[in-house]
Amino acid sequence: MDGKKTLYSAIQPTNNLTIGNYAGAISNWLKLQNDYDCYFAIANMHAITVRQNPAELRQKTLSMLALYIACGIDPDKCCLYIQSHVPAHAELCWVLNTFTYVGEMERMTQFKDKSARHAENVNMGLMDYPVLMAADILLYQAEYVPVGEDQRQHLEIARDIAQRFNNIYSPTFTVPEGLFLKVGAKINDLQEPVKKMSKSAENPNGSVFLSDDRDTVIRKFKRAVTDSGSEIKYDPENKPGVSNLLTIYSVFADKTIPEAEAEFAGKGYGDFKLAVGEVVSDRLAPVKSEQAKILADREYLNTVLKNGAERAAHTAGRTLSKVYKKIGFYQI
Ligand code: TRP
Repeated sequence: MDGKKTLYSAIQPTNNLTIGNYAGAISNWLKLQNDYDCYFAIANMHAITVRQNPAELRQKTLSMLALYIACGIDPDKCCLYIQSHVPAHAELCWVLNTFTYVGEMERMTQFKDKSARHAENVNMGLMDYPVLMAADILLYQAEYVPVGEDQRQHLEIARDIAQRFNNIYSPTFTVPEGLFLKVGAKINDLQEPVKKMSKSAENPNGSVFLSDDRDTVIRKFKRAVTDSGSEIKYDPENKPGVSNLLTIYSVFADKTIPEAEAEFAGKGYGDFKLAVGEVVSDRLAPVKSEQAKILADREYLNTVLKNGAERAAHTAGRTLSKVYKKIGFYQI
């Protein structure tokens, strides 16, 4: 479309998003949607590689979609859809399986990690996860794939599979490039400010989730660890706690770090932490009420999803048909 380059990304609906994801991934997607022909999928087929509660999976799929729209991802600008609504993903995955070696999959670090964490359920889907991800990307002939650093190996395999297929037959797939975007601001754990804020931190008070209500957000910031001394100064080396809070404040209040420092000069840690908590919850409030509004409008959501799936299926179908032709599947 419009000579723009194609960009593909997906998120699993099981992710519990933190304010770190908001400051990073979501804000990146917002910028990208203007410059690229974007496809963003909710990867529910990837999600079932670890056991899910069905009702929860369904609910999280919709609430994730509503959240992204509430944050400003525009379904008129980009193609937003649910992975399982486009059967071509499973179909291409099957073909690509025959171009992927068992040994390669056994060596993937995420597979090894997840097999250790879910030893009772090391299923074939878990092992096949990277091939399904390759199918996602290759179906759309995506040039760019914005992902976190943890997906680097998966992207590498997608490129290998694409090149392998192209070499055996003839150029069929665009070989995708990873966009490992430096997120605007790196947000750390409130309890252990030298570690990145994560969805699965040991101490739940260290992470602020987009789903937390105002009181919870404020309570978590009040309990955030600070550092010795009393000065509110950006010094990540010696004052990791205070520096992290200043970073969060600057992101959520749209101010520079020096502006934030000036604002809190002479104030105590208690007032400072409360102010950070307030600015974060003030900023999240409209997003959350918009999300709730969208979630309540099932008809609107279904329309978005139907349009998204139709558009995605059109693009994906063209690639799949090319693949079937090259490998010798008779088509009518
Ligand atoms: N595995 C990705 C993650 O957990 C999600 C994902 C699925 C994805 N399919 C994709 C990301 C295709 C980029 C492209 O983050």
